[in-house]
Amino acid sequence: MRRIVIANQKGGVAKTTTSVNLAAELARLGYKVLLIDMDPQNSATSAIFGTSNFEYTVYDVMVNKMPISQVAQHSDTFGIDVVPSDIGLSGAPMRISEQIGREKVLFHYVRNVKGYDFLLIDAPPSLGLLTVNALTACNELLVTICPEFFSLKGIKLLEEIVENVRTGLESEIEICGVVITRYRERVVTNEAKNAIRNYFGNKVFQTIIPENIKLEEAHNAHLPIYKYDAKSKGAEAYANLAKEVAKGQLKRKGAGNHGKKGTRKKGR
Ligand SMILES: Nc1ncnc2c1ncn2[C@@H]1O[C@H](COP(=O)(O)OP(=O)(O)OP(=O)(O)O)[C@@H](O)[C@H]1O
Ligand SMILES: [Mg+2]
Repeated sequence: MRRIVIANQKGGVAKTTTSVNLAAELARLGYKVLLIDMDPQNSATSAIFGTSNFEYTVYDVMVNKMPISQVAQHSDTFGIDVVPSDIGLSGAPMRISEQIGREKVLFHYVRNVKGYDFLLIDAPPSLGLLTVNALTACNELLVTICPEFFSLKGIKLLEEIVENVRTGLESEIEICGVVITRYRERVVTNEAKNAIRNYFGNKVFQTIIPENIKLEEAHNAHLPIYKYDAKSKGAEAYANLAKEVAKGQLKRKGAGNHGKKGTRKKGR
């Protein structure tokens, strides 16, 4: 089972939109997909299930030691299984903060999950304990970056956390793929796109997700984009992204200049 976390501590860079639509597209390609909503804002859960309330959520996995198989809910519409979240998850860090191994609680349960080709985790916009648990549970990190909000400082901070998690917590996580999202053709965004490509090399997916209002509408209609508007630019983009992900593009190691000492220009 490939384990991919979609993360970036920056808010509003399409982590959730990418998680739910990538999950649905992978399912459409025939893969069995489990999506864990690791954000107390539960935006992935509501994108998929609307306002439904669930008796058990990822909080029960984190705090009450419930196996993932007992918490997962099937969505016919998206063709995937989902471990839902709700606002209660915001209390989980406090409940587990004294525990030994608090950074790897989710990993402990993910290890026993069987029967899926892909596990995707939608991380919250922070670098706290919930995100660290999402990182240690996975071995591939997909970063969504919106060129309009691109900040090298933010990316370096994320890289630092990933490195700390790898070395300090014996995790295999590494930034394996970067997807440019909410792209609008403008001089400034074009420059940011080039800066992202320079920095990350061919870890950046060929597919660029354009700004497309249909994606927001699909979210509000609780449908994957391919069901909401199959002909939209957003639908085409997420279908292409899923094909790239399925091909194992995220596994390309050491791609580009990223991570090689002495090849980065200072002050970028
Ligand atoms: N390509 C797109 N075109 C237009 N709107 C988009 C696109 N991608 C995402 N959005 C919209 O932008 C908003 C933020 O997206 P989303 O919730 O996916 O980001 P996020 O990174 O998960 O945010 P958070 O950090 O709060 O978890 C949402 O309203 C979503 O519908
Ligand atoms: Mg989100």
